[in-house]
Amino acid sequence: MTQNQAANTSPTQRKILVLGATSGIAEATCRIWASQGASLFLVARNAEKLASVAADLRVRGASFVDTAVADLDDTDRHPALLAHAVNSLTGLDVAYLAHGVLGDQASAEQDFNTAAHILHTNLMAPVSLLTWLANFFVQRRSGTIAVLSSVAGDRGRKSNYVYGSSKAGLSAFLAGLRNRVDREGVTVLTIKPGPTKTAMTSAMKGSEKFADVNAVARSIVSAVDKRVDNLYVPFQWQPIMFVIRHIPERIFKKLNL
Ligand SMILES: NC(=O)c1ccc[n+]([C@@H]2O[C@H](COP(=O)([O-])OP(=O)(O)OC[C@H]3O[C@@H](n4cnc5c(N)ncnc54)[C@H](OP(=O)(O)O)[C@@H]3O)[C@@H](O)[C@H]2O)c1
Repeated sequence: MTQNQAANTSPTQRKILVLGATSGIAEATCRIWASQGASLFLVARNAEKLASVAADLRVRGASFVDTAVADLDDTDRHPALLAHAVNSLTGLDVAYLAHGVLGDQASAEQDFNTAAHILHTNLMAPVSLLTWLANFFVQRRSGTIAVLSSVAGDRGRKSNYVYGSSKAGLSAFLAGLRNRVDREGVTVLTIKPGPTKTAMTSAMKGSEKFADVNAVARSIVSAVDKRVDNLYVPFQWQPIMFVIRHIPERIFKKLNL
């Protein structure tokens, strides 16, 4: 398939792989893709939750839904898992990486193993998946890779700098990957959500004011359709993070953020 053909693949014919399919943001995104009739291959580590998400997406109109249970921390399993997904879907148009952990910042400040676990799940595992997926799409000269990074990666803050550094690394990796593969017909979309109402943030102070997950999902679907490079969602996080990135360090280091 050529680059232009891939761009024109209608949502109803689209073959989409979702890694971390039980994530609140991923599930909301998949509900839209299912209603458009897409074919979906869903990967998650919790078999029960995964079966329930898959059943719901079938009811909502997905043309095809297959699943695999996998702990994505296990990078040795990635090549076989991804090959199986492509085989099951008989091709691949979009790979959507959604899994991630917030982690416990206070523990991570005291214990390297806690910090290493956050970095492994949020950065090393995606790097393993992205390396395989990028090479797959480059060979076919088409495809879209969409990845949930975070506004937290735009500047380290005392309240969550371990999580933030995992997302900063991920965003930088994606920027470099895009620079490599865009000319090969492959789109790389970096998604930076601001605080969004999902299981990940439900215990946070003020979470009732966080962004609605369905609105976030609609923006993600639209960005995939338009082959956007970078998405801040909701959009106001783009100017907010511009300001935060430009606060002079002598002031920033004294703020309680
Ligand atoms: N919500 C926000 O405010 C926000 C903001 C910015 C970025 N993000 C990013 O958006 C993505 C989705 O988050 P969410 O808000 O939808 O949170 P969520 O509902 O808590 O989803 C996180 C998902 O990651 C899965 N996961 C974690 N480690 C895994 C592993 N080793 N193997 C397989 N699956 C694993 C979890 O599976 P289990 O259910 O089995 O634990 C869960 O399905 C994450 O990358 C997050 O960092 C979220």
